[in-house]
Order: sequence, then C-alpha cells, then structure tokens
Amino acid sequence: MEKPNVVTCTAPVNIAVIKYWGKRNEELILPINSSLSVTLHQGQLKTTTTVATSRSFQEDRIWLNGKEEDITHPRLQSCLREIYTLARVFGVEGELSGIARQGSGSACRSMYGGFVQWIMGQKDDGKDSLAQQVEPETHWPELRILVLVVSAERKPVGSTSGMQTSVQTSCLLKHRAESVVPGRMREMIKAVRRKDFAAFAELTMKDSNQFHATCLDTYPPIFYLNRVSQQVISLVHRYNKHYGETRVAYTFDAGPNAVIFTLQQHVPEFVQVVRHFFPPETNGGQFIRGLPVNGVALSEELKQAIGLESTPKGLSYIISTKAGPGPCVVEDQHLLGSDGLPKKTD
Ligand code: DP6
Repeated sequence: MEKPNVVTCTAPVNIAVIKYWGKRNEELILPINSSLSVTLHQGQLKTTTTVATSRSFQEDRIWLNGKEEDITHPRLQSCLREIYTLARVFGVEGELSGIARQGSGSACRSMYGGFVQWIMGQKDDGKDSLAQQVEPETHWPELRILVLVVSAERKPVGSTSGMQTSVQTSCLLKHRAESVVPGRMREMIKAVRRKDFAAFAELTMKDSNQFHATCLDTYPPIFYLNRVSQQVISLVHRYNKHYGETRVAYTFDAGPNAVIFTLQQHVPEFVQVVRHFFPPETNGGQFIRGLPVNGVALSEELKQAIGLESTPKGLSYIISTKAGPGPCVVEDQHLLGSDGLPKKTD
C-alpha cells in the first residue's frame, strides 16, 4: 500500500460581536450583511482535523467526533470540490476563507486570528464575500472572554433554518441588514482599532440584542435566550451601572449561552459575582475552566446593588479565555492512522 499523505490542522472558534443572520444565496452561503468576530484562543477551545490521502484508498470517507458521516452532504461536497481544484492550482495556498464560508458562513471568520470581519461582498458568484483580519490577536492583550455555559434543557432551532425563516418573514431583519449593520461595522472597527472598551462593549450588546429582536420578529418567533440568559443580561447592566462605566459586555448566539467580554483587571470580581448569583453544585466538576482566575471577596454593597435572586446550578461552568491565532498545522496530533481510518481512542 502507498504511504498516505497525512496532515492535521487545528482551528479556532469565533464569537461574533456584529452578528451574521440571513443569506442572500443559500447555496454559496452569501450573507445579507457583513459581520465581525473575535477569534478565541485554541488553548481553551479548538477543533482538530486530519486529512489522509493515498492512491491506495478506494473511496472518500469522513468521520466527525469518531462517527462516520455522509460524505455526499452538499456543503461538504462544495468544500471538497473547491479544495481539490485549489490543490491542483496552488498546492492549497492562497485565500481559503471563501471555501470555509461554503462549509458554514460564520466559519470563514475562523480562518484568521484576532479581530476578523466577513465582508458581505456584492458579486453574484460570491468571489468578494471573504473574511479579512482587522487586527491580530496581539492587538488588545487585556481583553478577556468568559463563556458562560448555561444548563440548557433543550436543543434550540438551528441557525441555518432559523435565519431562513427570519429572511422570509422579518422586516426588522431587512432594516437591520440595510440600515443598521453598515454603520455598526464602521463603529466597531474604529472601537477595536482604538481599544475603546466602552464603545466595543456597547455595540456588542446592542447588536446581540438586535439579533435576538429579529428572532422575535421572525414568524413564528424564535427564542434563543432563556431565563438564565435574561438574568445574565440584567446582572451585566446592574454591574456596569454600579460602577458608572461599561466594564462588561454580553453577547448571545443561537442558544442560551452567554459570552462575556471584559478587561483582565475586572475578571476576578466579575467571575465572583457570577458565582454568587449562580452558585454551582458543590461537588460538581470544575466550575471555572481555562485561564486561571483569582478568587476575591465581594462587598455587600456590590451584591445589594446587583440584587438578583440567586439561581443555583443555572450555569454548568465558565470557560475563561482570550483572543487567539487562526488555524495551525500540527505535526503530532493525527486522528487518522496510516490505513486512513480513525485511530482508536481510549
Ligand atoms: C448567530 O454560520 O452557523 O452564530 O451559514 O447556515 O452554517 P450557516 O450558519 P452559521 O450561523 C451563525 C449565526 C450566529 C451569528 C454569527 O456567528 O455571526
């Protein structure tokens, strides 16, 4: 058997602060508005992909989390078709976000580290609908991200079908895409470049709220936020109000989990506030994961100013992270063996 060519790559997760919601072309995955995200550090969250190719292999196969999936899925075929073409032409170099986009729209922003915009583009063939780095991950070292994982009870409506219904039924979404997002993209890029946390945080929260408002304006309506999400929103606003400045921001995607942005100096106290109002299970797994967070004592004044009712076990855990780099080729984490099949894991 010919020795296969095996390549493994890790890729990051990104969190949008100006949201993508709605397509103008379903097949090519072209959005109705531009969006902007922060790429999260792969030390805390990442995906690992191995590709093995050999003339001896009989067919194309794919496994996702160890389970074989259908290789004929249209989105997968779109990506594979383009990669094969590209490999022939460039040895797979060059602009790859246009391919990633055809797997899942928001995924194209994960092709770069730091702060990344997905420019919607104007062309019908989507050639100008690409991701572009706004600033690298080293630009704003004090920025911290906390993923608050909500103990959710059911699986929400998927983003692909959710945004389809929104495009068909929500006039607020049309207004948002045409008249709100273009100005917000400019303001957000400015806020990121200047490292203006208050401006960045306010735009982030307003854009998350408007995205969820378009979900409510969808018919029938889509609810992604639950009671815990709403309590996190109140907590953030009361915390900021207590200090008379915007120290913390929230954003929510197509589910109830909150993603919090703040600056390094506020992390210990804010995490303690979250822990106070969402007391975790005492003997449960580790509540705070990722970058270490120092413990602090909270003043009675602060607890009273927030004054929320306590929701024990409302959150499963918190991942503490920061902005990070784009995809990396790694030499030692191959998921497929020389036979092209998944390696046995314990
Ligand atoms: C709410 O990228 O998952 O997270 O393009 O259909 O695969 P498809 O949708 P997807 O949508 C993400 C929506 C969002 C906002 C965002 O990440 O910008």
